[in-house]
Amino acid sequence: MTQLPDLTAWLSSQTVDPATREAVLCVAAACVEIGRVVALGAIEDNLGVAGGINVQQEEQKKLDVLSNDILSEALLACPAVAGLASEELDTVQVTDRTGGVLVTFDPLDGSSNLDINAPVGTIVSILPAAEGRASTEADFLRPGRHQLAAAYALYGPQTVLVLSVDRDVASFTLDADGHWRLTQDRMVVPEQTREFAINMSNQRHWAPAVRAYIDSCLAGRDGPRGKDFNMRWVAAMVGDVHRILTRGGVFLYPWDAREPDRPGKLRLLYEGAPMALLIERAGGLATDGKQPILDIVPTALHQRVAIVLGSAEEVRLAG
Ligand code: F6P
Ligand code: MN
Repeated sequence: MTQLPDLTAWLSSQTVDPATREAVLCVAAACVEIGRVVALGAIEDNLGVAGGINVQQEEQKKLDVLSNDILSEALLACPAVAGLASEELDTVQVTDRTGGVLVTFDPLDGSSNLDINAPVGTIVSILPAAEGRASTEADFLRPGRHQLAAAYALYGPQTVLVLSVDRDVASFTLDADGHWRLTQDRMVVPEQTREFAINMSNQRHWAPAVRAYIDSCLAGRDGPRGKDFNMRWVAAMVGDVHRILTRGGVFLYPWDAREPDRPGKLRLLYEGAPMALLIERAGGLATDGKQPILDIVPTALHQRVAIVLGSAEEVRLAG
């Protein structure tokens, strides 16, 4: 069998600056380790809660904390990285380095799936750091279009890394020797779909437009859409986005009336923006219902965002 190209070889085929390239390799190595501790689960006593509450007021799992530590340590040891921000950390961590990159991340997305051995992932966004001075929190508050790279790792039946540093969105599968092997070089989201993803249990809290859109899908072939829809909900955004990058679909986590002052549940800097970059580069769309997620200028590190992303035709109808 011919050997599939590895991540380093693929990076050589892309237009990418040296700092981003180095940061991507640090992230990829950390994700191998996160995948390992996730896979060992109870064997290393890694399941269950850590006992803390994060800045999002969410109960932290042991693996949330462990994954955050693995990625943070790897990035702070990476010479190209000038600072980081994590879902699990209240504030940014910056070094005195000038130039290079900043990295924001959700170390273990969908961690409520851990207890049932369902997919979880890591989401990463890479931004330019300040030049000529150390970076501050304000330097992280850039619109998603400024991202130098975006990636996620999905710890599922296979461990995969999906990455974009240039125009292409490529997918790598972790082999038995710990190498990321290129298994798909240009992911493309089909324009049309018959599959949607939304947490239906929140239906009674949705805004009328979201209700009307989902009702139109549920009406199937006899309704206004004239076709039957299927529904999927992985409860880990990484899993839902991976499905959409693989076979199309639309994912919604809209505003809802449970917390009316909050735009949505998911976070802009390390969930919405990197996923929006990957989806747009693969030919799909990602909006907050009003504007492209990549155009939103963040005002706070842990700011929330409503999300509609996936197959272009469906996002136009839903958003
Ligand atoms: O990170 C938040 C998250 O776990 C996403 O990965 C996922 O899409 C969503 O929350 C699941 O939300 P719910 O609890 O409503 O199913
Ligand atoms: Mn998450």
